[in-house]
Amino acid sequence: MFIDSHCHLNYPPLKDDVAALRSAMSQAGVDKALVISTTLESFDEVHQLATAYDNFWCTVGVHPDEEGARSPTVEELKQLASRPRVVGIGETGLDYYRLNGRSVADMEWQRERFRTHIRAARACQLPLVIHTREAAEDTLAILREEGEDGSAGAAGGVFHCFTETLDVAKCALDLGFYISLSGIVTFKSAQSIRDVAAWLPLDRLLIETDSPYLAPVPYRGKTNQPAYVADVGRAIAQIRGLTVQQLAESTTQNCLRLFSAMVA
Ligand code: NI
Repeated sequence: MFIDSHCHLNYPPLKDDVAALRSAMSQAGVDKALVISTTLESFDEVHQLATAYDNFWCTVGVHPDEEGARSPTVEELKQLASRPRVVGIGETGLDYYRLNGRSVADMEWQRERFRTHIRAARACQLPLVIHTREAAEDTLAILREEGEDGSAGAAGGVFHCFTETLDVAKCALDLGFYISLSGIVTFKSAQSIRDVAAWLPLDRLLIETDSPYLAPVPYRGKTNQPAYVADVGRAIAQIRGLTVQQLAESTTQNCLRLFSAMVA
């Protein structure tokens, strides 16, 4: 009934007991999970999860925060994306939160890495999984420059773990992207994210855990896991005045429309 559209099941402690995660998922009505790549070095682990279990899929990409990780070429991403059960490119994007004394101008390596992912996604027509933090303006500008404006040939994708403003959400939708909300929507301080959750068109909304991070209330501070995407879904259903069933069906359909290779 639910899909967790973004999790890191190759990270500790999740990778140590995948069987327990899977049984918790089935108890919570979470049918499928998309395991997100963050480095090339760990891609085999991620891909192995997607091939070992018939309700897991994966992406390929290098996270903008993984500064020490090897940056891929377009060719390399295309080749890895052609493997079975790889349904998207990412996570990729920009993160200016941890500049560590550098200026935004110094982050050109991140912008280049992001462009490489966009070019690969367009070449293989797979959706992008976008991470953006304190960098929304450049993220949107680079997407536009690379042709990701919803026009013919666009890869499209999702802004994951969305924590930006309503204006940024509108721009992302205008470019044809989806918005994914995480457990942050349940945090007391996150009224601005609840405003986005209330406003978003229902046909452009995805839900995720970003586990092992960001466990929703009532598990806040504990290790997150895909089963808890049901709690994210319940919270958003309540915000929008929908039944949990309606919210689950819509977000599941949206996820399968975007990641269309995610079929059993
Ligand atoms: Ni992530």
